[in-house]
Amino acid sequence: MNKSILKIISKKNKSKIICLTAYSKNIASIIDKHCDIILVGDSLGSVLYNFSTTKKVSLDMMIEHSKSVRMGVRKSLMVVDMPHNSYRNSKEALKNAKKIILRTKCDAVKLEGGRKIYQIIKTLVKNKIQVMGHLGILPQSATNFRFKGKKLIERKNILRDSKLLEQAGVFSIVLECVETSLAKEITKIVAIPTIGIGASLHCDGQVLVTDDLIGLNKIDARFVKKYLNVTKQINDAVLKFKQDVIKGKFPRKKHSY
Ligand code: KIV
Repeated sequence: MNKSILKIISKKNKSKIICLTAYSKNIASIIDKHCDIILVGDSLGSVLYNFSTTKKVSLDMMIEHSKSVRMGVRKSLMVVDMPHNSYRNSKEALKNAKKIILRTKCDAVKLEGGRKIYQIIKTLVKNKIQVMGHLGILPQSATNFRFKGKKLIERKNILRDSKLLEQAGVFSIVLECVETSLAKEITKIVAIPTIGIGASLHCDGQVLVTDDLIGLNKIDARFVKKYLNVTKQINDAVLKFKQDVIKGKFPRKKHSY
């Protein structure tokens, strides 16, 4: 494992891990100094492209956005989501993970799932590819978006999967919308960090979609806290620009040649 990955792991039980998404250079460069991990999430499918599901996100889309993000990331660990249908078997996963890393210079990739992708993750790790796991709601295959861990069988499976992912060699696990006591239990039993989204404060770190956090993306989910209303700020700025142009206040001499 490389130094930056070990640094993330060493934060477990010491200090919280901060993870946010970025889909472009400008946002990445703003959040970089405050993050431990920047994730180029396939959530970009719904946030930027209005797709009804992340299933429609392609490998090329992930690569192009990640190339832009790379230009803004200096210190954080950069993780890229492997999109739907890019890791259906070990051979395909290895080929595509290598392509993502080569083209984007990211530090790690993230895959959704547990037992079903155990061998695939083992293959990636064996080939020195750093992998982040993802359990709970798995948007690439989900049929509903209800939180996980209410039913006993669900709890058992997620608990088993978190141990399997650790065994397979992932360096951390995203827990998406996992019930509080289950997230707490997983965080206790695995030696690698858990990064929660809608999975309580018991996780070792938290991840949010930056566009949600700044109020740029219209979403009404329980796990989102809006820290800013950037939509209003952009609206106010654009309105002011429009008024200035109409009134002949812009451009001034100093803006002209
Ligand atoms: O795609 C994404 O942005 C994610 C995070 C929500 C964890 O997977």
